[in-house]
Parts: sequence; C-alpha cells; structure tokens
Amino acid sequence: MFRNFKLVPRVIFGRGCFAQLDEILSHQRSEKDDWAVFVTDDVFTGTPLAARIPLHDNDMLLYVNVDDEPKTGYVDQLTRQVKDARPTLPCAVVGIGGGSTMDLAKAVSLMLTNPGSSTQYQGWDLIKHRAVYHAAVPTLSGTGAEVSRTTVLTGPEKKLGLNSDHTVFDQVVLDPELTAGVPKDQHFYTGMDCYIHCIESLAGTYLNEFSKAYGEKSLDLCRQVFLEDHPDSADKLMMASFFGGMSIAYSQVGACHALSYGLSYLLGIHHGVGCCIAFDALEEYYPEGVTEFRHMMDKTGVNIPRQVVKGLDDTQMDTMINVALGLAPLWENCLGKDWQALMTRDKIRSLFLKM
Ligand SMILES: NC(=O)c1ccc[n+]([C@@H]2O[C@H](COP(=O)([O-])OP(=O)(O)OC[C@H]3O[C@@H](n4cnc5c(N)ncnc54)[C@H](O)[C@@H]3O)[C@@H](O)[C@H]2O)c1
Ligand SMILES: [Fe+2]
Repeated sequence: MFRNFKLVPRVIFGRGCFAQLDEILSHQRSEKDDWAVFVTDDVFTGTPLAARIPLHDNDMLLYVNVDDEPKTGYVDQLTRQVKDARPTLPCAVVGIGGGSTMDLAKAVSLMLTNPGSSTQYQGWDLIKHRAVYHAAVPTLSGTGAEVSRTTVLTGPEKKLGLNSDHTVFDQVVLDPELTAGVPKDQHFYTGMDCYIHCIESLAGTYLNEFSKAYGEKSLDLCRQVFLEDHPDSADKLMMASFFGGMSIAYSQVGACHALSYGLSYLLGIHHGVGCCIAFDALEEYYPEGVTEFRHMMDKTGVNIPRQVVKGLDDTQMDTMINVALGLAPLWENCLGKDWQALMTRDKIRSLFLKM
C-alpha cells in the first residue's frame, strides 16, 4: 500500500509577504462577526511584529509560552480559553512562531472541533472531525512543522503527536524576514533539525525518489546556509525546512530522532538541541553526516551540552531506552527489518552514555 498523503494546499513565499496575511484571511471572514485567533509566541510581546498582526475588532491575540515544549494539558487549557471567549468558533487559527507555536496552533484548531482532551487523540488518525481553518507563519526555520501531518505533544503517558490529515495546515505564510531575531544557538539547533531530517531520510531504508528529490535539495540548501556565507541564507533555510519536511513525510526519520525523543521525554531537552546531542554520538550510523555536522558546528561557533546523561540511575536510563526503542518505524528506516537484532538495550545504553 502506498501512502496517499495530504499536502498544504496554499503557500505564499517571499520577504515581506506577512503583509498579505490580512487579505489571505479575508476569504475566511464571510459573516459579520467571524473572528480569528492568532496563537503567537510570547517572545514577540511588544515587538514590531506583534504590532503588524492584522487584528480585527472581534479577533483574539493569544500569546503562548514555549519555554516547555507543547503539552496536552496546555493545549486543553488554550482550547478552553478560545471556546469560552465567544459564543461561536473562530473562522481561523493562525500560529505565529517556531515549531512549538505552530504545533500549538494545529492542536488548538483540532481540539476546537473534536470533543474531550487532546490526550485521547495522541496516535495515528484518531481525529474524527475536520479542524477549524488553520494557517502557519513560521518565525524559526528547520522543524518542518509547517508541512507535516502531526503536532508533537507530551502527555501524561507519552510523547506522541496528533497525526492526521486534518492536522495539515490550510495555508503557510513563508516570510524569511520574520526569522531575523532568532538567537544564534537556536538558529543552529533548529537548522540542524532540518539537516538531520535530510541525512536520516536519505540514508534510510524507506527512501524513494519522492523523498530523495526533496531531501537532496534541502540538504544542498542546509550546506549553503551552514558552510558558506550568503546574504539570503534565511530564505534558503526556510525552503530547506519546507523541503526537509516534505522528504520525511514520505519516508521517515531515524536513529537520531529516536534517541532524542528519549532525551526529551526524560530530561525535557528541546527537540533541536536534543537532535544535535544525539547526532554527535551517531558516527557509527551516519559517518559522513556526523563529520559534516561537526564542521558546521565549528563554523558557527555554537556548542552543544555535554554529559547530559551523567548521574542518571538505572530506572531513568531504562525509561529513556524504552521511549527510544518504542519508535519502531524510525529504527526500521535506519537499520532495516532486522533492526531489533542490531539495536539491543545494551547498544542503545552505550549510545546514550556517549551523550
Ligand atoms: N509537527 C512537527 O512535524 C514537528 C517536527 C519537528 C519538531 N516539532 C516540534 O517543534 C518544537 C521545536 O520547534 P523549534 O525548534 O522551531 O523551536 P521553538 O518553537 O520551541 O522555539 C525555540 C525558541 O526560539 C524562540 N523564537 C522563535 N522564533 C523566534 C524569533 N523570530 N526571534 C526570536 N526568538 C524566536 C522561541 O520563543 C523559543 O524560545 C518541538 O516542540 C518539537 O517537538 C514538530
Ligand atoms: Fe526533527
């Protein structure tokens, strides 16, 4: 069976295109009291970008905090806040921020039309009803969250996305100017998330020409951004993120993402930096990629945290191993059908101990 996957139907790209957001949303505002919600990273509070959000009288500007990556409890709280604000559902939910904010916007748009808690929908194709129209405005490039069919949430029992066709954004607004203020470290960590998507996709056993076409172009753009100097590197990284997301949509990520999920679940380490920490320990599996990653790290002058698993007891280590080993498709993509014989608990422990 081949996957018949859903794409984002509308994309606008270009420096300054954020100015067209009001016109784009006007097509959703058919009734007089239709209203939109702008789910916005609170890092933009009081900034010129916040002043440019095209708010109408009845609209809601909902600032969100992403110091912790999105949790199901936070999604449920935000959804309640939106439902309680007006007697009708909004006509649009717009996420303005990095991967975390985009994921919160996706999750809220889904939970406005699907009853109960978001924990009930962590998994594959559990969402029953189409979401409220939702759009993304990325302000940080790399995760591919702008094109993916998931929103990654940490719940009380698991870290697992709401994976469904309804999760995919209806509109993406790609304005490279909006990434101008990203701190250097964060720019590198989230950019490397994209680089690693490409390496894992291109080296994987699930690879096909569709994923390869997007993955190779994305990898080429990552190299231009992190090994060369270009005045339009923000434009390049925004497209690399989009194409990297397209590549893994039809293949899969691999060992690095599996291990980084363990780090994130137990230690709360954020996705981008967690991928960097894990990737640096994976020379055995991605030798050329890891060497190039280290060159990129040297060139940017960014460091990654070391010895993050130091002092963990056996129970904590077991939890991390369980989370990582639970991601069977990622291991199968990396190591093939017999991955269980190769990735034993001892092997995975030895990899974690390098981090
Ligand atoms: N849905 C998906 O397909 C998918 C894929 C990969 C990762 N993710 C999720 O994405 C999240 C990581 O996203 P991320 O790496 O983009 O980071 P993020 O959204 O967590 O943001 C990281 C930091 O950068 C700040 N920031 C964002 N834009 C900025 C700007 N323009 N200027 C200054 N600061 C800015 C944020 O406030 C935050 O402090 C994780 O929660 C991860 O699980 C989702
Ligand atoms: Fe990733």
